[in-house]
Amino acid sequence: MAADHLPIVETPEAKLATLTWRSEADTEAFARALAAAPGLRDAFLALHGDLGAGKTTFVRHLLRALGIAGRIKSPTYAVVEPHEAPDGLLIFHFDFYRFSDPREWEDAGFRDIFAGPGLKLAEWPDNAAGRLPPADLTLRIDTMTDDTRTVNLRAGTPRGKALLDAAAA
Ligand SMILES: Nc1ncnc2c1ncn2[C@@H]1O[C@H](COP(=O)(O)OP(=O)(O)O)[C@@H](O)[C@H]1O
Ligand SMILES: [Mg+2]
Repeated sequence: MAADHLPIVETPEAKLATLTWRSEADTEAFARALAAAPGLRDAFLALHGDLGAGKTTFVRHLLRALGIAGRIKSPTYAVVEPHEAPDGLLIFHFDFYRFSDPREWEDAGFRDIFAGPGLKLAEWPDNAAGRLPPADLTLRIDTMTDDTRTVNLRAGTPRGKALLDAAAA
């Protein structure tokens, strides 16, 4: 892929990599690489970063790369926006920015979603900490003063490591 990156660091518990996204084109290139990676289908990706960092932008490029057509709504008010790719892949895009009521976790069926098949993407996962399963891949996006994005990637499972190898190598 086009973006620069530092060498991938591997520890027994995790695998880490750092990317620079110089523009949204680099976000798109990474999203495309990830979409092509085997193992993404049932993965859980946690997306950290301040408001405006580019979490939703990344999700939109990933959804496009997976074949989702039409307008892609941001789930800020609904907490979750479900999608189905042309090949039948279910994708659940969560935004926990406004999530605060623990009862909603059960009532809205989030537990079932995370226990079931499909790709799960979550913005503001810290707001649902303690309920979410461990993420396969965690992205932390930071906006630099020159508007580029520094992206710290952490693979926390074998599935996440395979995704990182495929998309950030
Ligand atoms: N890689 C990038 N480089 C430059 N600008 C970006 C990049 N990714 C996103 N942006 C811009 O940042 C703004 C906020 O992005 P958004 O995805 O809504 O952030 P978040 O979901 O993290 O709050 C958008 O206007 C988008 O065009
Ligand atoms: Mg967002």
